[in-house]
Amino acid sequence: MGWKTLDEIEMRGRVVLVRVDINVPMENGQVSDATRIEKIVPTVRDILAKGGKPVLLAHFGRPKGKVVPEMSLAPLLPELEKALGVPVRFAEDCIGGPAKRAVQAMAAGEVLLLENTRFHEGEEKNDAQLAASMAALGEVYVNDAFSAAHRAHASTEGIAHILPAAAGRLMQAELKALEAALGSPQRPVVAVVGGAKVSTKLDLLGNLVARVDHLVIGGGMANTFLVAQGIDVGRSLAERDMADTARAIIARAADKGCAIHLPVDVVVARAFAEGAPSEVLPANACPADAMILDAGPKTVAEISRTFEACRTLIWNGPLGAFEIAPFDAATTAAAQKAAELTRAGKLVSVAGGGDTVSALHKAGVADDFSYVSTAGGAFLEWMEGKELPGVAALMR
Ligand code: 3PG
Ligand code: MG
Repeated sequence: MGWKTLDEIEMRGRVVLVRVDINVPMENGQVSDATRIEKIVPTVRDILAKGGKPVLLAHFGRPKGKVVPEMSLAPLLPELEKALGVPVRFAEDCIGGPAKRAVQAMAAGEVLLLENTRFHEGEEKNDAQLAASMAALGEVYVNDAFSAAHRAHASTEGIAHILPAAAGRLMQAELKALEAALGSPQRPVVAVVGGAKVSTKLDLLGNLVARVDHLVIGGGMANTFLVAQGIDVGRSLAERDMADTARAIIARAADKGCAIHLPVDVVVARAFAEGAPSEVLPANACPADAMILDAGPKTVAEISRTFEACRTLIWNGPLGAFEIAPFDAATTAAAQKAAELTRAGKLVSVAGGGDTVSALHKAGVADDFSYVSTAGGAFLEWMEGKELPGVAALMR
């Protein structure tokens, strides 16, 4: 696919610098969701099996070029050892003496984790010298951090130009799934885009209407589209100044032959609170003192029919305020429908983005989707049709 895989690079006896994304959520000093750690296991095990010495490069949080002890990677060591099943050593810097000594001290079958790359100012600036200092530690570079590939940083981009470079297994899997969903998909294709704001997903909507057959719009951004059609949405979250933009997207969709699906009925409430009394009304009948918090059952039925008519689904963003019951109902029902069709072999379903993945877990169907991406920002930028610098740098 234009880049090398682990099978095409000689690793025996070599130090392999592996860029991973283990930017995991923590609560009270403990990893609260280890998914991203578990996902790097195939790559690290493969490198070990091929006789290479894996040295992990990673960021954690946004320390902005300074050493911030709370953003050290050291607390992740126990989780990494648990997931990898081998000893994982740690070096307190990703370059210089501490890193060099730790690399030299590595025994066969061990893994080394280097401290947060973002403790250096040069990381986010893609500084050539920092990239060279990291590259000097090893002989091969592997990028397995698809979810950080939208960043042109020294450890995700610069270093790939210095050493022989390859894509790791997770990177490969992510790119394959996205290619199947949007690159050369089986048609018809339906995209579900939800979330609060049209303004943050303009590029996404613009790209999607030219590439998919159906676009389901949900969440707060659907309200903006309702407003654009002259509908009063009461106290609902909506970007009223984006009405012109929403109309332009509708026009572009018509031009490209993409059917846009907006809510036909909605769940409204007077308070944004768990269990707030709510009612289902037509989408054009939201009372002045109420707000739309979810799509209604008729809308869900229409979405289900659309899923049934399609072969491929790509999903980013919930349909309602899924964090609080009962406003998770539409997202959950649509996700369950997608899961059912996927299990039956009738639909290829790909989802990504932090909120989307939590919603799928909440609905109990994350494992039933064809592919669930570990990426948030990178998934979105890929769906927007943008080139990801970390992926581009791997091209031969
Ligand atoms: C993420 O968690 O989205 C990735 O690790 C990238 O992190 P960033 O948004 O701080 O670059
Ligand atoms: Mg992010």
